[in-house]
Amino acid sequence: MSFSLTGFVQSARSAAADARPVAAVQTLMSQTFADPQAIAKAVGSFIAADECLHEDDEVSVYTVRFAPDELVPPHNHRIPAFLGVYEGTEVNLLYRQVESGPLELTKRRVLNPGDTMAIGGDGIHAVHTENTMPSLGLHIYLGRLSTVSRELFDAETGQSMPFTDENYQMLVRPLL
Ligand SMILES: [Fe+2]
Repeated sequence: MSFSLTGFVQSARSAAADARPVAAVQTLMSQTFADPQAIAKAVGSFIAADECLHEDDEVSVYTVRFAPDELVPPHNHRIPAFLGVYEGTEVNLLYRQVESGPLELTKRRVLNPGDTMAIGGDGIHAVHTENTMPSLGLHIYLGRLSTVSRELFDAETGQSMPFTDENYQMLVRPLL
């Protein structure tokens, strides 16, 4: 069956309603991203900005575009997050915080077209692209992302602060 964003949202809602939502969404993501070109073809040039395709109390579905040369600051989601890349290359830096000290980089995961990754509710990640192309992906979150009280972090000091546009702009860095 060919990919459509409407169909993907429907499948995400069904998976979120499953008795084991994390496993069901993971399966949906790996099945969907097995053919990244089909996603690219269906989404086309719909890449101007992050777009919320669907949000309710159980599940949120977004198209996501990460700009080149920009380091998205470390943040958590407070709800399970599932990322998939269909175009470009996305580097995920995963951190943990011991007590309230500086963030400790635990893993660097490179996502190429077709790759997916799950992050638990307490997981912290920062993101940048590789090369000069943006990376394009689809994200599913198990909850209503826009109303979750989540945090941004200063990577050097480990200081956490509410995830607001203002704090985001303060922490976003050019990729050197
Ligand atoms: Fe994120």
